Amino acid sequence: MICAIKHSAIAPVINGSDNTFRRKNLPGPKRSLFLPSITAEKNPKPVVSVSKPLHVSSVEYLAISKPLKKSLITCKAFEADRSQPIGSSEVKSEAARRVKIGIYFATWWALNVVFNIYNKKVLNAFPYPWLTSTLSLACGSLMMLISWATRMTEAPKTDLDFWKTLLPVAVAHTIGHVAATVSMSKVAVSFTHIIKSGEPAFSVLVSRFLLGETFPLGVYLSLVPIIGGCALAAVTELNFNMTGFMGAMISNLAFVFRNIFSKKGMKGKSVSGMNYYACLSILSLLLLTPFAIAVEGPQMWAAGWQTAISQIGPNFVWWVAAQSVFYHLYNQVSYMSLDEISPLTFSIGNTMKRISVIVSSIIIFHTPVQPVNALGAAIAILGTFLYSQAKQ
Ligand code: 3PG
Repeated sequence: MICAIKHSAIAPVINGSDNTFRRKNLPGPKRSLFLPSITAEKNPKPVVSVSKPLHVSSVEYLAISKPLKKSLITCKAFEADRSQPIGSSEVKSEAARRVKIGIYFATWWALNVVFNIYNKKVLNAFPYPWLTSTLSLACGSLMMLISWATRMTEAPKTDLDFWKTLLPVAVAHTIGHVAATVSMSKVAVSFTHIIKSGEPAFSVLVSRFLLGETFPLGVYLSLVPIIGGCALAAVTELNFNMTGFMGAMISNLAFVFRNIFSKKGMKGKSVSGMNYYACLSILSLLLLTPFAIAVEGPQMWAAGWQTAISQIGPNFVWWVAAQSVFYHLYNQVSYMSLDEISPLTFSIGNTMKRISVIVSSIIIFHTPVQPVNALGAAIAILGTFLYSQAKQ
């Protein structure tokens, strides 16, 4: 936006779109008392440039003929698109925004814990991660189609451009989702999430080397404990499995791209975070289904399903339903958060979420953990905390 303070050699003009104050024939030297940072010039040119136009909301001591001991004008500047000076109402709305984000984060984390527990229970009995990934997307897509059809939620207005922009996001989401589920089918939930806590390191590396962004030194230093902690946890993992490890690593990389593309795709669009994620689920489902059939296929699924039902009983169906529903819900809430925050904050929130998932899954599944393994996880999480501090 363009600056709104202009200064003329003849008449200083404080110009905003709402208010204009002029004093004609003002002697030159006194002008500095009004606007000390503005240099007088012969040609009236804008001399101050700020990112948003400034408005003047109050002017005091306009009688300037007497000798002046203090500043003649008290300006309260505020942005052109605001109707009040930056003050208590902004502070209040900022506080309300923070509370809203806090509620989103807490809900997102709680739903994610439930998802992870049911997902692992299903995968223990039915080790077909490609199908369970597909079912999660199918369930979310169905829920949203029903809510649009019944007008519980207003359907988004999309065009071809929207779907084209969504495609790379959906590819990254699909890869990240399947990779994480494959990982969890091979290793403990806690181990997958310890490795996935390395996501900020992927975020920095991608941003630095592919997007050309630079970061303060502290950010790079914080990657040492993140990467070191993950590495320590990996080498001391009692039930290490290379597919499980690589699945979590691939998921990290894919989700960094997903978050970057998502934020770009959501910028300036009228589609809400909730509907954006719904469209993402539908597109990902279309992408994933043929691959799931090719990799696993109906024959394996039918045999596996029979085995699972015979071992677990009819409750198994509810487990599958729970993992699918909770998968959609936690992602939906996380996208509602992404509406409000940067990809970086999202990434940090996601890593902090993993603490609750790691702890609860270790308790529920009685996962054996060596002290040095727990130390690796703690160092990685601490690194993430340091990273978030260095980014501020
Ligand atoms: C998935 O299945 O998509 C992953 O378990 C989710 O990983 P996240 O914790 O990074 O969302």
